[in-house]
Amino acid sequence: MADSIDHDETMVRAIADLPIERRVALVSGANMWESKEAPQLGLGRVRVSDGPHGLRAQPADSHASSQKPPAPATCFPTAVTLASSWDLSLVTQIGRALGEECRAQGVGVLLGPGLNIKRHPGGGRNFEYFSEDPVVSGLMAAAMVEGIQSQGVGACLKHFAANNHETYRNVANAVIDERTLRELYLRGFEIAVTRSRPWTVMCSYNQLNDTYCSEDRRLLTDILRGEWGFDGLVMSDWGATNDRALGVSAGLDLQMPGCGTAFDGEILAAIATGRCPESALNESVRRLCELDHKIRTAAVDDTSHTEATGDMYDRHHELAVSAAAAGCVLLANNGILPVEPNTRIALIGAFAETPRYQGAGSSQVTPTRLTHLREALTDLVGVEQVSYEPAYNAETGDTSPQGVARATNLASHHEVAIVVVGLPAIYESEGFDRDKLGIPEPMVKLVEAICAIQPNTVVVLMNGAPVEAPWADQPAALVEAYLGGQAGASALASVLTGAAEPGGRLAESFPVFTTDVPSNDNFPGQPRQTEYRENLFVGYRFHETAGVPARFPFGHGLSYTSFSWGAACLAIHNASGAAIPESPDGKLVVEEDETVAVSVEVFNTGTRPGSEVVQIYVEAASPTLPRPTRELAGFAKVHLLPDSSHVVEVVLDDRAFQVFDVDSNAWVTDAGVYRVVIARSSVDVVERVDIEVRSSRKVASANGGVANWRPDDESFRELLGRPIPVPAPVRPFHRNTTITDLESTWLGPILRRVVLPRIRTELTGMFPESKPDFVDRFALVAFEAPLRVVVATLEGKVRLSHIDGVIELMNHQWSAVHRRLRAGLAATARRKFAGIAQRVRRQ
Ligand code: BGC
Repeated sequence: MADSIDHDETMVRAIADLPIERRVALVSGANMWESKEAPQLGLGRVRVSDGPHGLRAQPADSHASSQKPPAPATCFPTAVTLASSWDLSLVTQIGRALGEECRAQGVGVLLGPGLNIKRHPGGGRNFEYFSEDPVVSGLMAAAMVEGIQSQGVGACLKHFAANNHETYRNVANAVIDERTLRELYLRGFEIAVTRSRPWTVMCSYNQLNDTYCSEDRRLLTDILRGEWGFDGLVMSDWGATNDRALGVSAGLDLQMPGCGTAFDGEILAAIATGRCPESALNESVRRLCELDHKIRTAAVDDTSHTEATGDMYDRHHELAVSAAAAGCVLLANNGILPVEPNTRIALIGAFAETPRYQGAGSSQVTPTRLTHLREALTDLVGVEQVSYEPAYNAETGDTSPQGVARATNLASHHEVAIVVVGLPAIYESEGFDRDKLGIPEPMVKLVEAICAIQPNTVVVLMNGAPVEAPWADQPAALVEAYLGGQAGASALASVLTGAAEPGGRLAESFPVFTTDVPSNDNFPGQPRQTEYRENLFVGYRFHETAGVPARFPFGHGLSYTSFSWGAACLAIHNASGAAIPESPDGKLVVEEDETVAVSVEVFNTGTRPGSEVVQIYVEAASPTLPRPTRELAGFAKVHLLPDSSHVVEVVLDDRAFQVFDVDSNAWVTDAGVYRVVIARSSVDVVERVDIEVRSSRKVASANGGVANWRPDDESFRELLGRPIPVPAPVRPFHRNTTITDLESTWLGPILRRVVLPRIRTELTGMFPESKPDFVDRFALVAFEAPLRVVVATLEGKVRLSHIDGVIELMNHQWSAVHRRLRAGLAATARRKFAGIAQRVRRQ
């Protein structure tokens, strides 16, 4: 303890002694993936890398313009698949494996996990996030952080906060009422920060209630550090900074990537005028030193191997196989699965040879190897048992009449047809949202044609987010394999043949029609402003409260075995953990500082090993404020051999009976009767137990959720407690003008001509396996980025003054343009003169 205090004090003094320009320089990166060093402070470069489901380590000093494909690493299943496992210890193991690979490749911080709420099925990045529920998201993230950091590698929770869609992500304003923000969008972060103490957090690109998250003091300091006790470093998302000096004051410690000295002048000027306190700068430098110190000195759990040997990657591949099976959700099954031995299988669908196994964008990993269903299945059941027909184009999903004819013919001549369909890569990616919510129409027709001819049809989905599936009751079985990572196909083959069980339960709802969900009217939004008018009614919170059934509900998933559950037992413990005896009348009464532990014995009554997820929801009988009918409060997964049982315990924390009380700006226990719901899914209730919860405080808010939650202006205004913000007009142009905003000007077409080819080249360098259509779609994302991002991401090749000059020109601010030109010419002349003078002096 004394050592760390000495270390801190010495550090604080050394920081203050460093010239201010040097300190300012330290709060932005050295390059794409590293922070800067300062030998005077004993500070080395901190190397960071994406994340989250595998290591994407590019050469440390690579630049935005010379991105190289990353070195191979294990591509684990993406977050959506991992969350479907509901298995926290498995996720911790994966975190450990990720940490181990980071150490082997010299990476100090892994940029993940991502835990934003899936507000709408169409979110382009949903595959990279865990759930529509904050308890699942927060616990999953905490489990992963724990694993990563056990290896002496920092984790990075991202994207803080409210990055719930991709369209115009750099400028979009998420307008959210305070209670919804706290109970839904911040809750997962709160859980992960308080439980797992991550070393870093990444702020998101977007604005939250009119303030860029990168400069939101309330978010980055008051809530994150003040309320939740976060003691690590906050970095920006890549290019997410707006007003850099405001960011420093707000608690944004490190701007990434490096952009030369582009923003240093602004920070220095703000410190000189008192707009940014120097102490905030010093604190950010201290946090950087502390992070570096942690990376260099943290104890590493030595049960793991840290050498980059084939052996480590082999072990991790096997772990990836079990994770993919654990996250595979059996949505429907009439008994056809698992496929009996010696069955002749028609395997249909190009994804069986060219799998969708991860999402696109910054999380794209170069896998150490890649499994394919065709090969994996034939390895398991024998080549003579399986006939294959691709039937469609894996990049587009398009079929040909001949392909469909071959597929139906094959299906009709085999005992079982397995049809693999899903979302082609171009349908879902970081950078843009999905505009099509079903699988491609030709794939639907293919499924229908096969189902019509072969009653024993199994449909397998490979996709990263819910799809509309009006055809879902046609096949005999439906398997949601999600994005299974490099070993996904091996796992899938084992699941289909029964060598492994499908261990997954949905961590998100599959609506019948996406138009049913209330966020749909404001998704992605205007597009610069997204109003979260549905407030808390996202996912199952909506389906259950509104009585609109989902096609496949949150928490749902079938098994190959069968289970029975014993009667639940509720125990109440006081703050020191001692059990409170039951009251004589048998009533269960919980005081404010007490916790409730729910235990239930689960029996595997079938003939196969299997796993079950005990889900505990709470329902408030007469809440002070409107609440969703049912909310998840905790869960536990249990693995059971046939004829065995286990008592599962789930402890509910205080938040289960609390609401965020906007008027008192605090969580308040809402006294009353609660029903503790012990369930297999959000709709499959096994038992309900009533308890009475007492509280010393009353909920003061009147407007924490509008009764009947109407999405009209008046209700939303009431919910916000302020006028609905009006997005700024496009003109006059400013630093947050996007290239799209400039399209109607003479500069627009020029920018398009200059920028597009360049971005295409960069993207092809970065993602060599991506197809041209995809690259073209992704390149368009750049057009939604504001001008300032050019400065923040091009290593200082473009300066703020250049952007400001363009803006003045486009705004016809001729005198400003004139002044800038004169100053520019004078500076050039001065530079020339100094050069001549130097040459003369040398002669
Ligand atoms: C993404 C982050 C990622 C970063 C670095 C950003 O575009 O939003 O999730 O970590 O790039 O690649």
